[in-house]
Amino acid sequence: MATERIDKLLAVSGYGSRKDAKKLLHSGAVTVDGVAVTSADFHVDTEKSTVAVDGEPLVFQKHVYIMMNKPANVVSSTKDGEHQTVLDLLKAEYKHRFLGGSLHLIGRLDIDTEGLLLLTTDGSLTHRLTSPKQNIPKTYFARLRDTLNEQEKADYIERFRNGIEVPREHNEEAFTSKSAGLDFESGNECRLTIYEGKYHQVKRMFAELGNEVVYLKRLKEGPIELDPNLQPGQSRELTPDEKAALGI
Ligand code: URA
Repeated sequence: MATERIDKLLAVSGYGSRKDAKKLLHSGAVTVDGVAVTSADFHVDTEKSTVAVDGEPLVFQKHVYIMMNKPANVVSSTKDGEHQTVLDLLKAEYKHRFLGGSLHLIGRLDIDTEGLLLLTTDGSLTHRLTSPKQNIPKTYFARLRDTLNEQEKADYIERFRNGIEVPREHNEEAFTSKSAGLDFESGNECRLTIYEGKYHQVKRMFAELGNEVVYLKRLKEGPIELDPNLQPGQSRELTPDEKAALGI
């Protein structure tokens, strides 16, 4: 049974602070299953009971699952003194509190990387998608500085398939990448699927081969593909099918 204090339920439903909720309760406007409740510490079973304000039933959402098409020049964090953050781009409706926890990012993209970024209040999904043991595939579109001929493309594909030894960068450990899938769309444009999410991973892998990523966009993470209708900066909640694909 999931019980929550009624003042918290009112607060997450947009009725102001807990103090505001208390005033509302004292006014007699709040009912639980049709019976007026005035005490702020009354506990409600959110799965079974209906809370109403002035007769309007409230709908509680435990978790929210969002995909964003992250634009460049925006940082993947919740706070930053200097740059706009991805949270600044979210619609206000996603910023109110959900019962299940605070909104956070599932992994990060560099400031100049665009594309699929998932956000949620569900810590267990975040753990599943970011745990190195889960081998969750992530697919990127990359544009490279140097154009390759057919032999060089074949060499890159082979090197990525065999795993690349990436040296230490700043405080980040060296690592050997898991076997990665690389497909070329032209001499300098490719799709890369990797199975871990190390710091600057894609850029460091191509740098190891003497090239440089000049544009990077994430297209897919696990079963979730970036919605092509989302313009950079736009976001939407995951659909029921997308959530089912994630096992939610
Ligand atoms: N790899 C990178 O180098 N940067 C990203 O933003 C994501 C993966």
